[in-house]
Amino acid sequence: MKLVFATNNSNKLKEVQSLVPKHIQLLSLKDIGCEEDIPETTGTIEGNAKQKANHIKTKYGYDCFADDTGLEVSALNGEPGVDSAHYAGPQRNAEDNMDKLLEKLKDKPNRAAQFKTVIALQINGELHTFTGICEGEITKEKHGDKGFGYDPIFKAEGYNKTFAEISLEEKNKIGHRGKAIKQLISFLIKYNI
Ligand code: IMP
Repeated sequence: MKLVFATNNSNKLKEVQSLVPKHIQLLSLKDIGCEEDIPETTGTIEGNAKQKANHIKTKYGYDCFADDTGLEVSALNGEPGVDSAHYAGPQRNAEDNMDKLLEKLKDKPNRAAQFKTVIALQINGELHTFTGICEGEITKEKHGDKGFGYDPIFKAEGYNKTFAEISLEEKNKIGHRGKAIKQLISFLIKYNI
């Protein structure tokens, strides 16, 4: 079956494609001729995921799923959360975002954090959501050069390496996006979509 994954982020496409069963053929936004910036204005991770999936269905007519992810840091009341991509400014720079977060956490003993991914699936006229959470902590310095975003400063619970120091396979197994994607896949299989 064909299903649109509302992204053009090659890192995410690579991650998700490695998890999706072979009978599901994913189409990217580019594949359906969508080159606009899809609105993400609801102020919550869940709301933005739903907004993106609904936008594609309404404007382009395709069943699709969209994801939205944020890093939620306990000592900062859930920051950067829905603002994770542009935490340090509109340049959306991962190094700047990490530097800002490390600076804000400098004197805080509690470094607990979680990644949260919400996937919204718009299919057969219904909207479903799937949430994946990965708990962990923010390190004091950056380590590793794999992955993207905040990976060099996030250690999952029970790990002594950051997400930027472990393989993509391992990150998929324990990571927020992998968990949400697994729920999405179970749903598609259960309802024979
Ligand atoms: P998005 O909703 O997937 O585009 O994620 C928003 C922002 O969260 C990204 O720009 C990254 O800064 C951060 N982010 C999302 N997923 C990850 C991840 O797996 N590792 C590190 N940072 C991530």
